[in-house]
Amino acid sequence: MAREDFSDATYLLEVHHPMMAKAARPGQFVIVMSHEHGERIPLTIADYDREDGTITLVIQAVGKSTREMQQSCTVGTSLYGMVGPMGMPSPLGQASKVLCVGGGLGVAPIYPQARGFKENGAYVIAVIGFRTNSLVFWQEKFESCCDEVIVCTDDGSAGIEGRVTEGMKLAISRHADIDECVAIGPPVMMRGAAEVTRPYGIKTMVSLNPVMIDGTGMCGGCRVKVGDQVKFACVDGPDFDGHQVDFDDLMARLGRFSVEEKAAMKRWSESCRMAQQVPETGKPTE
Ligand SMILES: Cc1cc2nc3c(=O)[nH]c(=O)nc-3n(C[C@H](O)[C@H](O)[C@H](O)COP(=O)(O)OP(=O)(O)OC[C@H]3O[C@@H](n4cnc5c(N)ncnc54)[C@H](O)[C@@H]3O)c2cc1C
Ligand code: FES
Repeated sequence: MAREDFSDATYLLEVHHPMMAKAARPGQFVIVMSHEHGERIPLTIADYDREDGTITLVIQAVGKSTREMQQSCTVGTSLYGMVGPMGMPSPLGQASKVLCVGGGLGVAPIYPQARGFKENGAYVIAVIGFRTNSLVFWQEKFESCCDEVIVCTDDGSAGIEGRVTEGMKLAISRHADIDECVAIGPPVMMRGAAEVTRPYGIKTMVSLNPVMIDGTGMCGGCRVKVGDQVKFACVDGPDFDGHQVDFDDLMARLGRFSVEEKAAMKRWSESCRMAQQVPETGKPTE
């Protein structure tokens, strides 16, 4: 229904799917196949509009499938398949003052949680972090549903200079009574956020993104270690207690298909280049 490009790598797709929009809850995700032979990729439901019957996906083009979608998905495109909503909805609980922290692409999935906490009557402080001003997105959306919004950029070109952990420290120094924190972003950022709140004993939930295959708890691909337990992020999560997550294990497992991912990307780039070559007839080859 709509597409917006936030940067060279990050794009938003608004997808018409009334049943998904009706069923979606903050923190859930879908598994998408863009075409019949496409890979199944998990993507967080970054927003949903039950009246319009749409869900919003915000995608970072990092490899073959997400780049392929970046090229092929425009207004009017049909996705081949979408399963969901998957995962456990985020436990929005009874917190009265909440810190919602999103780093980079994590800014999109933290939005429905911030809105959900606000709807539950909490005082909501959002901390959203980007590398630089040109990558900032959804600031107004957060301002419309949060009591305070702290923007952080690595280079100081917007908001305060530094990572989201700096914004979190600022918020905690102003509010001694924050009772819950939710942090979403790259694993290293979520680990940093959990370390900021640990000394204060602030409950901190993070949303984990291990490699998923079936998304139904059958394959074990998305296994994560949380405290002394093994959990499957697709059915037990993706939200877990950040003070208990073994982030080293998560990061090691995220890299375990890197050889295959690079090979898939290379094959796909070469076939794209060949498709764009213009033969002597003047027409591009198929
Ligand atoms: C619950 C969940 C929610 C997610 N939400 C979003 C989102 O909203 N937006 C977004 O851009 N990305 C999201 N991701 C990550 C996204 O699924 C991967 O970036 C995507 O699958 C990469 O595929 P690729 O072929 O483009 O890249 P590849 O080159 O295949 O992989 C690049 C990296 O993405 C990760 N990845 C690869 N395949 C999978 C897979 N099947 N499942 C999970 N991670 C994978 C790995 O870390 C890998 O190193 C989410 C992942 C999970 C588990
Ligand atoms: S993706 Fe297979 S068990 Fe979670």
